[in-house]
Amino acid sequence: MNNSNISINYLSIKYQPAGQFEDTRYEKIHNIVFSNSVDGSICVAQEIAELIKSKQALGEDCILGLATGSSPIKVYEELVRMHNEEGLSFSNVVTFNLDEYYPMDINSVHSYHYFMHQHLFDHIDINPENVHIPSGTVSLNDLQKYCINYDLKIKELGGLDFQLLGIGRTGHIGFNEPGSHFNSGTRSITLDHLTRADAAPSFLSIDNVPKRAITIGISTLKKAKRIVLLAWGHNKAVIVKKTIEGKITSEVPATYLQEHNNTTFILNDEASQELTRIKTPWLVGSCVWDEELTGKAVVWLCEITKKSILKLTDKDYNDNGMSSLLVQEGSSYGLNIKMFNKLQHTITGWPGGKPDADDSSRPERASPRKKRVLIFSPHPDDDVISMGGTFDRLVEQGHKVHVAYQTSGNFAVSNHEALKYAEVIKDVSPNDSKIDNIIHKFVGSGRIFIWFEH
Ligand code: F6R
Repeated sequence: MNNSNISINYLSIKYQPAGQFEDTRYEKIHNIVFSNSVDGSICVAQEIAELIKSKQALGEDCILGLATGSSPIKVYEELVRMHNEEGLSFSNVVTFNLDEYYPMDINSVHSYHYFMHQHLFDHIDINPENVHIPSGTVSLNDLQKYCINYDLKIKELGGLDFQLLGIGRTGHIGFNEPGSHFNSGTRSITLDHLTRADAAPSFLSIDNVPKRAITIGISTLKKAKRIVLLAWGHNKAVIVKKTIEGKITSEVPATYLQEHNNTTFILNDEASQELTRIKTPWLVGSCVWDEELTGKAVVWLCEITKKSILKLTDKDYNDNGMSSLLVQEGSSYGLNIKMFNKLQHTITGWPGGKPDADDSSRPERASPRKKRVLIFSPHPDDDVISMGGTFDRLVEQGHKVHVAYQTSGNFAVSNHEALKYAEVIKDVSPNDSKIDNIIHKFVGSGRIFIWFEH
C-alpha cells in the first residue's frame, strides 16, 4: 500500500501494529510508505511539532533524541520553517544526539556538532544548555564515565519522549553496529567498514573517516516512548526488509526495534521495494493483475522455478500464490505465450530502431533513422562491460554515439584514473584538441566529466 496520500491523517494512523492485516503479515514493525522522502519528512516534522506543542500546553519539557546523516535533513528543514513561519517554539525542548565520531573536534565540518548547528540549532530558539551531543573531545580515560553520565542525564529528565533514527546499511541505529548487545548503554564503539565506506565521500577518502564513535546504546533507545526511523532510497531496501521481516538478531541491531511497541518506519517507495508485500504482493494477499504486475510476477516465477516462461505449468502458478492470475487469464498455456511474446518484443538487434520496419511493438522507434545517442557510464568501463554489444551495434548501424563518463573525482574513480583514460584517447586521436582541454581544465577540480564521441 502506498500511503503518500495520508499525510493529513498521519498522526491519527501513526500506530497500527504490524502484521495485523493480511498484507502486513510478514512484517514485525509498523511502517508507512511515501512516494517521496519530502512528504514523509514533512509528516514526521508535524508529529514532532505536535509533541512539542502538547508538552508546552502541559508546561513540560519535550525530550527529543536526534539523528544526523542525510535522512533527517528535510525533517530539520521543515522544523526550522515551522519555527520561522508558524511560530513553533523550541523553548521547552531538550535534545540528545545519538552519536559523534571519536575523536572529533567540535569545530570540524565533519563533526555531528557542526551538522546539528548547521541544520537545526542555529536556526531555532532552543536554549543552548538544552542541547546535548556526545563529545568527540573527551579523553580516553574519561570516556566511560562520560558515557554513563550521558545516559544518566536522559534518565533524570524522564527518558526520551521521541527518538528520531536513520538506519545504516549494516543495520546500525545510532552507531550500534552489528554485534551490539540489546542491553548496551551509551559507549564508544568501533565503526564497521561498510559504515566508514558510506561516510567516505564526505571525508574525501575512507582513510580520513574516524574508526571509532560514541553512540547511545540500544537499551537507552528502546526506552524512548516513541521511535520514528527514516529510510530513503534503494540502497536501504535490503536492510529495511531484514529489519522489518527478519528475526531479531544482534547482527542487525535495528531488529531490536521489533520489541519496541511504538515504533514506525517512514519509508519512501525505493526503500520499501524489498518488502514482501511490495516486491511479491501475490504472496501476501489478493492483488489487481494489471500488465505491469503480471510481467513482474511471471519473471519472478521463472526465477524461483528455474524454468523458462513457456515451461511454466498451472501447478507452478498455483503453488506460488498466483492462482488468481490463472483464473483471470484462463490457463498457463495462453498466459505463457502472451508473456513470452511481450518479453520477446523488448529484445532487438536494432537498439536504435530498424529502418523501414514495423516498430509498433519494439523498444525503439524506427524513425528518425539515425539518432544521436548518449550513454551515461558511471565508471569509465561500465559502457563496455554492461552494454558493449549494444554500444557496438549502435555505432555499426550508423548512429552518432556519445559516452559521458561520470566520475566523482575523489572516491568511485580517482582523478588519476579518469585522466589515464583521457590520455589513452589522446594517444588514439592525437589531433583531438578537446581532450587536451579536458585534461587541463579539470585537473585538480575534484570533478571530472569526460565526454567522448564515437
Ligand atoms: C547518525 C546515525 C546513523 C545514521 C545512519 C544513516 O546520527 O546515528 O545511524 O542515521 O548511518 O545515515 P544516512 O541518513 O546518512 O543514510
